[in-house]
Amino acid sequence: MNQFGLQKALSSLPLGDVRYFESIGSTNDEALAWATEGAQDLSLVVADEQTAGRGRSGRKWLTPPGSALAFSLILRPTNAERTHPARTTGLGALALSDSLRTHGLAAQIKWPNDVLIGGKKVAGILVESVWAGDALDASILGMGVNVLAASVPPADQVLFPATSIETELGTPIERPELLGDILAALIGWRSKLGTDEFMRAWEDALAFRGQQVTVTKDQSPSLTGELLGLEPDGSLRIRDKEGQVHQVQFGEIHLRPVV
Ligand code: ATP
Ligand code: BTN
Repeated sequence: MNQFGLQKALSSLPLGDVRYFESIGSTNDEALAWATEGAQDLSLVVADEQTAGRGRSGRKWLTPPGSALAFSLILRPTNAERTHPARTTGLGALALSDSLRTHGLAAQIKWPNDVLIGGKKVAGILVESVWAGDALDASILGMGVNVLAASVPPADQVLFPATSIETELGTPIERPELLGDILAALIGWRSKLGTDEFMRAWEDALAFRGQQVTVTKDQSPSLTGELLGLEPDGSLRIRDKEGQVHQVQFGEIHLRPVV
């Protein structure tokens, strides 16, 4: 990947400015700083390698050079994004799962922030916010995608089985073109973020829907039941064995299928 190939693949998209780095700590950190300095809507930070990539709660996201997609998109919030802040994570996940489906890959969203192929994690999303007092000033939508097989961390370094697009497809794909596809899908879905159509598409792409799952909080299982779907605020609906329906909010939880 290089600046030239990237610009070519993104030229038809209505983006703000684009910053490309051969190597960076975290694209989210760069985007957070840039948003604070006034970056315009849809400005983009892309890196070939991250040396301090982050997942939720400061966990590590590994982005070795030459093999993965790591980017952060700056969103100046629309009214719908202000009203439904949790949907921004769904926006990223839906855009990626749609793009993967055009390659014939049956991608699913492991709520709240991962994308799976064949039950293995191929991507993670980290949305962070910049506040101006009480008002949301910018959302940073960070996404890491394992594109080539070399991007998949060793099994002892992940909490959930991981895979790559190359592994699942049996052939490599070009990272700049994939990024262009993801961003085009994201811009398309963004205009529908406040709609029922958006919620239906997000729900339809959920992994483990209709199956038994366990939600773990603070390292202990807190709820087991059937994954029913999503609430309008993006929280998860789960029915326990007594038939009671619970809503699980975005937060520090882990979702696992019951095996
Ligand atoms: P969980 O996977 O338990 O549901 P999560 O999705 O919230 O939790 P995070 O902590 O946000 O996971 O993501 C970081 C985790 O992802 C790391 O702890 C590691 O297990 C895993 N990981 C790190 N880099 C990669 C990668 N390139 N591909 C797949 N998984 C990775
Ligand atoms: C997760 O699985 O919890 C989220 C991982 C998010 C990783 C991406 S890679 C681009 C951006 N920069 C980061 O430091 N994190 C996100």
